[in-house]
Amino acid sequence: MSSRTPLIAGNWKMHKSGTQAIESAERLKTLVNAASGVDIMIAPTFTALFQVGQVLKGSPIALGAQNMHWEQQGAFTGEISADMLVDAGCSQVIIGHSERRQYFGETDETVNRKIKAALQAKLTPVFCIGETESQRLAGETFSVLDKQVRNGLKNFVFNDLGNLIIAYEPVWAIGTGQTATREQAQEAHENIRSLLETIFNKDLAGSTRILYGGSVKPDNVRALMEMPDVDGALVGGASLDPDTFSKLIFFNEN
Ligand code: PGA
Repeated sequence: MSSRTPLIAGNWKMHKSGTQAIESAERLKTLVNAASGVDIMIAPTFTALFQVGQVLKGSPIALGAQNMHWEQQGAFTGEISADMLVDAGCSQVIIGHSERRQYFGETDETVNRKIKAALQAKLTPVFCIGETESQRLAGETFSVLDKQVRNGLKNFVFNDLGNLIIAYEPVWAIGTGQTATREQAQEAHENIRSLLETIFNKDLAGSTRILYGGSVKPDNVRALMEMPDVDGALVGGASLDPDTFSKLIFFNEN
């Protein structure tokens, strides 16, 4: 067991209306009231952020956003800045999710800019990386992760990155029910951690939380969390139902 506090984060993606998001947040707040030794975050859709933030006040659940723009303000129709997210109550933001990379033209370069802007606004970035199925089959997993980490964290020094969270999410495991084995997750996380040591230093490598994401469910969370370099989970499908999600948060007790 490492000294890193586990984080269980729920990415609600493009699900739930404002009303539904409030209901889910209220239910979750009641369910996890007694949770200890674990950090919790939920990332509702933009339009629900402010209201869900009001519900979460005084609870141990942090509010996260699913994306942001790197500029502070300006003529960028349809975009939302880091300061706006802070204003809505967010303390974390998911950056570089594979769905954004796959469908919305997110690149390592935009991810790099977004991480920089998030940190400037004192938002904790949850920086997502992961290989596709064909990259894994071609034996390219570690070179892909290497490139994503180096480019995403380009021009930072270790002092900038004290709050950074990384989410390793193999694209082939997201929403497919095909979870990586815990050995596959551990191998990737270990690799990412040693890369952080190579690029930055041992302290940053030791303190950075690396979450696993991709079909995490109540029946596999514990096995994954037992691995020494798995510090939490970024959860899509299983975060939508508060009762299911709370089982992940209490992974130690199931
Ligand atoms: P999933 O999604 O849990 O539904 O596989 C994970 C994610 O996209 O973060």
